[in-house]
Amino acid sequence: MTTRSFIVGGAGFIGSHLVDRLVARGPVTVYDNLSVGKRAFIADHLAAGRATLVEADALDLERLTREIKGHDVVFHLAANPEARWGLERTRLDLEQGTIAMYNVLEAMRLAGVPRLIFSSSGTVYGDTAERCAEGDLGKLPISLYGASKLAGEALISAFSSCFGLHATIFRFGNVVGPRGTHGAALDFLRKLRDKQTYLEVLGDGLQAKPYLFVTDCTEGLVFGLDHGKGPLDIWNLAPPDETSVARIAALCVEASPHKNAEIRFTGGDRGWPGDVPRSKMSPERLALHGYVVRYSSDEAVDLAVKALAGEVFPGTEAA
Ligand SMILES: NC(=O)c1ccc[n+]([C@@H]2O[C@H](COP(=O)([O-])OP(=O)(O)OC[C@H]3O[C@@H](n4cnc5c(N)ncnc54)[C@H](O)[C@@H]3O)[C@@H](O)[C@H]2O)c1
Repeated sequence: MTTRSFIVGGAGFIGSHLVDRLVARGPVTVYDNLSVGKRAFIADHLAAGRATLVEADALDLERLTREIKGHDVVFHLAANPEARWGLERTRLDLEQGTIAMYNVLEAMRLAGVPRLIFSSSGTVYGDTAERCAEGDLGKLPISLYGASKLAGEALISAFSSCFGLHATIFRFGNVVGPRGTHGAALDFLRKLRDKQTYLEVLGDGLQAKPYLFVTDCTEGLVFGLDHGKGPLDIWNLAPPDETSVARIAALCVEASPHKNAEIRFTGGDRGWPGDVPRSKMSPERLALHGYVVRYSSDEAVDLAVKALAGEVFPGTEAA
């Protein structure tokens, strides 16, 4: 059976990998303002006519409603890409997170599209080093980014209950892989490209989080489409283990052409206010439904660092 998919933020990192997967099921519409995403990430699918790009903003409700009409499922992936940007622009997550989420839901309601998959995040669990399952919301988010994700989840619940929307919410760990647009590994590799003798790492390096390889992420999203019973499913999507920032830094130095670069930690237990230094997520609920990720956190980071090093240092033997 053909699925007509609509991906808000589909030209970005995770979105473009999702397009790779969804084109086998039917036509894909990518709705993206290209603020971070790139046409090049989906160029082959556009050229082959498997996907269409609508270059527009999720904050434009009228356009969104017009374009969303006629699709079977919406994947909402657009958001502020960097949690720490909220420290300088405090409206950013309200607009790009909460209001964009409202617009997607309202456009779906007006256009009669019944099915939503949303990319939330483990940041909803707040500052806790305890392993969190989906019900563990005793601590609230500590970043404006995390707050907007939790607000988005609440809006989905309300639309689902009031208007019959069938929704699946995924709370991702940190997603890594080729075409990454942000995150620690990419930051470190870019720093090494710009300053070859040392790598400055924010915090003490002991921060540790679950890292999810991007193909495990997109396979999980499609699993959600096929197996979400509704009306509202909430699933963690992360490996059961964690990787430290110090390990990522060491792998980046090793994968770069600057193997003698010294790693300098700025100190302190976290990179910036709002950053959760140590987090653990339980993947058990999703496993009980039948989906288990392929790569551990350490394996995901190894693969991603190699791929990103090849992108940051093209033509060298970095990767
Ligand atoms: N990458 C991670 O580690 C991670 C972890 C947890 C959750 N998430 C969530 O997954 C989603 C995808 O993340 P990603 O890493 O692919 O980020 P990304 O920045 O690469 O992709 C987001 C895409 O949305 C587009 N976009 C942003 N604002 C828009 C707007 N107002 N209108 C239209 N398009 C807009 C961008 O151009 C980009 O192509 C985000 O919602 C993010 O919060 C990501």
